[in-house]
Amino acid sequence: MRTMIAGLMLAGILLAAPLAQAENPIVIKFSHVVAENTPKGQGAQKFAELVEERLAGRVVVEVFPNSQLYGDNKVLEAMLLGDVHLAAPSLSKFKRYTKKLQLFDLPFVFGDIAAVERFQRSPEGKTLLRSMEKRGLIGLAYWHNGMKQLSANRPLRVPADAKGLKFRIQASDVLAAQFRALGATPLKKPFSEVFTLLQTKGIDGQENTWSNIYSKKFFEVQDYITETDHGVIDYMVVTSTEFWRGLPGDVRTVLEQCIAEATAYANRVALEKAVSDRQKIVDSGRSTILTLSTDERVQWVEAMRPVWAQFEDVIDRELIEAALAANE
Ligand code: SIN
Repeated sequence: MRTMIAGLMLAGILLAAPLAQAENPIVIKFSHVVAENTPKGQGAQKFAELVEERLAGRVVVEVFPNSQLYGDNKVLEAMLLGDVHLAAPSLSKFKRYTKKLQLFDLPFVFGDIAAVERFQRSPEGKTLLRSMEKRGLIGLAYWHNGMKQLSANRPLRVPADAKGLKFRIQASDVLAAQFRALGATPLKKPFSEVFTLLQTKGIDGQENTWSNIYSKKFFEVQDYITETDHGVIDYMVVTSTEFWRGLPGDVRTVLEQCIAEATAYANRVALEKAVSDRQKIVDSGRSTILTLSTDERVQWVEAMRPVWAQFEDVIDRELIEAALAANE
């Protein structure tokens, strides 16, 4: 009799197990600050779809765009507390956790996104994904957005045109130094405040990618955009070491696969949007796009490049050399 009861109980447990899993799936909250129709927004959505396809009932991904859950200044703290599980902040927003990623903020280090991609795939680039482990964060992938352009309400043809203007920057000391080198005033402000600051003339200009300038409508409140390609906004998809290592091994393996596929997808969207969002801004007629002559471009390089020397020691000269080698 006892054996029969035990057998029935075991059968009950076995039958209930899949149900319990379905009732208590692992919830992964993915928080980001940009719009859904951007490379990061689309990449996060693709990741959620792939997880739904492959881990239905075991893992649910909830995506929170547009700083709905956290702005970039809070998201990493929240991640370390376990309140959010995935984010992809711009590489300019990790300063409290590692100084090495400031490499990506140095002006005119990378000629284009292809060079950025080559560096990210290099041994040095891959090592940076692991550079915050001691601080409790693991980089799972890099995602592209694109090269940065400068916008303002006056035409910025040469560096002297930026003198005296106030520019919003991400929370990066390198970016602050870059604008100071132009005789301009940098203001560190969250991404969610940029449109209003531009609209109310709280700032005169900003630097960003075509997809961010288009999706957040900055072009509607800036008369000129200078096509400088002077820097890059790319992302690191991060999670907390504790959360990631605590996942069942088989789930983690599938999630890694989903991240890899979402990465390829987000990067394709980034390349497309750098062209199509720029064109949409041209077609809108709301903002004039200025392209630089070779001589004008040289002037921007000469004005901004001295910033490298200020940060060479903290970033590491060898890392800068490796980044420069990716242009070849
Ligand atoms: C982002 O692309 O995630 C935001 C970049 C910014 O803060 O300008």
